[in-house]
Amino acid sequence: MNTNISEQGQKTLDEFKNLKNLPTIPKVVLEVNEMLRNHSGDIVRLTEIVAKDQGLTTKILAIANSPLYGLPRKVSSLEFGIMLLGMGEVSNIVTALSLAQVVKGDAIDGFDYMEFWTHSMIVGSASKDIAKRLGFAEIAGDAFVAGMLHDVGVQLEARYFPEQFKQILALVEEDKMPFYQAELQVLGVTHEDIGHYMITKWNLPANLAEVLGYHHSPSEFDGVNTTLDIVHLADAMTKLFDIGTFAWDTGGEFDESIIPKLNFNDKAEMDEFIEEYFEVFQDTASEMRL
Ligand SMILES: [Fe+2]
Ligand SMILES: [Fe+2]
Repeated sequence: MNTNISEQGQKTLDEFKNLKNLPTIPKVVLEVNEMLRNHSGDIVRLTEIVAKDQGLTTKILAIANSPLYGLPRKVSSLEFGIMLLGMGEVSNIVTALSLAQVVKGDAIDGFDYMEFWTHSMIVGSASKDIAKRLGFAEIAGDAFVAGMLHDVGVQLEARYFPEQFKQILALVEEDKMPFYQAELQVLGVTHEDIGHYMITKWNLPANLAEVLGYHHSPSEFDGVNTTLDIVHLADAMTKLFDIGTFAWDTGGEFDESIIPKLNFNDKAEMDEFIEEYFEVFQDTASEMRL
């Protein structure tokens, strides 16, 4: 994240903050979270709330059935899906999906929403699985939400700064400039800064905002945030395998500071761990393209 924001960057951020039509937290997120607090265990009610939104239902089932998410069997109905996932996981999925949805807006020229969605979904599901396998099961749910939302700042840029976004894409495509650098050149800030601001504005937890703000270089974050380290790894894996890659989001180096933080003895041990994900990434991506 940009710690020394330039004058141009500050102007962009101020302009963004002053927009009157910034997305607000969707009602369904508040409803589902409220429900979990007050009627925990009421699957029928949760199903009713979620079923009101057909797009949400389809996406929940797509995620639950993806090889990366790792449910023991396929689910075809929302009720059964919720039963198998459990209320907590459904609430995580609903939160991540609804926030991604509310940011989406209308179709934007040059913005491949399908590619964005596949990347987000793969990074979210992989982050959850990595957290579990590396002994951080207690943050697996957070890792899913953070992974799903980590690049939401790109979508916000495309929606609220469409002209500048076209210039950024032109620099990436014609001049082969890394996306991150092109963002800095055109806007003075990047999708990290914009995503970080949005999550903070929505009053979501600071550790989630930190993931959005530092996912390209976690060592710049001054503190402990294992979810951030995991999302960086999952994001790097999409680039390494070139599966579910978000083509524009280029220009970051792998941040080796996460290796000991995720309890790997060395890079070789981490590389071995990464290799085990190749097939399941491939299977997930090919199902998403259906
Ligand atoms: Fe990114
Ligand atoms: Fe990403």
